[in-house]
Amino acid sequence: MQRPTPKNNFGNGPNAHNLLRADRCPGPASGTAVISHPSAAATRREPPALRRLVLHLDLRAVPLPAATLPLNFSWEAWRDDRALAHAAILFEGFRNGTDARFMRALSTLEGCYDLITATSYHQYFVPEATWMAVHLGSRGTSLPAATIQVIGSLARAARIQNIAVLPEFRGRGIARAMLVRCLRSCRALGYELAELEVTATNTPAVELYRSLGFTLRRVYVHEAEAP
Ligand SMILES: CC(C)(COP(=O)(O)OP(=O)(O)OC[C@H]1O[C@@H](n2cnc3c(N)ncnc32)[C@H](O)[C@@H]1OP(=O)(O)O)[C@@H](O)C(=O)NCCC(=O)NCCS
Repeated sequence: MQRPTPKNNFGNGPNAHNLLRADRCPGPASGTAVISHPSAAATRREPPALRRLVLHLDLRAVPLPAATLPLNFSWEAWRDDRALAHAAILFEGFRNGTDARFMRALSTLEGCYDLITATSYHQYFVPEATWMAVHLGSRGTSLPAATIQVIGSLARAARIQNIAVLPEFRGRGIARAMLVRCLRSCRALGYELAELEVTATNTPAVELYRSLGFTLRRVYVHEAEAP
C-alpha cells in the first residue's frame, strides 16, 4: 500500500542546531520556517559547475572490516519518526559546503527533510541498511551525530546517499564505521554492487570511499541550480 506523502513543516521555533541538541528530536510541527544559511558564495569565487564522480564497489569481491563506532556512540536503525533528526544532521553536515551551494535542497533544513523523506518513501528504500550514529552523553542524553541512507534496485545495486557526520564528531572513524555497517547490511540483503556519487573536490569523502575499495565508474558535470 502506498504511504501518504510526508509533510515538511518545521514549526516557527527550532533550527537544526537546536533539534540536534535536544535530548530527543521532535517530529515536524505545524507552521513553516525555511532555515537558510548565510551563503559564503557571495564572498567566495565558485567554479561554474561541480565535477561529480560516480563510484562503484563490488560487494562480492571486497573484504569489509568490522563496523565499530567509537566509545560513547551507538547505532540507531531507521525510524520514520526520526526523519527530521536525519535531516538536521544532513543540513548541518553540508552547511556552507560546496555541495550545498550547488544543490539547493542541501542548503535548507526543509530541503534536507524532503531529501530524507523522499528517499524513505522510494519504492526501493532499504531501511535495514539505513543508519544513524548517536552520541551518548554523560547525563543520559543522546545526540544524533551521523546519517546514511540507501535505495536499492532490482539490479542488485544499492545506491548509498545522504552521508553526513556533524562537524564536531568528524575524524573519529564514524563515517567509516557507518559506511561499512551500511555496506555489510546491503551485502547481507543480497546486493552485489554499491554505488554512490561524490563531488571531486570533496577530499575527505573521496579518500574514505577510495580506502574502502570504491572505484571510479564515470564522471559528470552538475550545473549550479537556479536560486
Ligand atoms: C566526509 C565525512 C562523512 C567524513 O566523516 P568522518 O567521520 O570525519 O570520517 P572518518 O573519521 O570516518 O574518516 C574515514 C576516512 O575518511 C578520510 N578522511 C576523513 N577526513 C579526511 C580529511 N580531512 N582529509 C583527507 N581524508 C579524510 C580518510 O581516508 C579517513 O580514514 P583514516 O582516518 O584512516 O585516514 C564528513 O567529513 C562529512 O560529513 N562531510 C560533509 C558531508 C559530506 O561531504 N558527505 C559525503 C558526501 S558524498
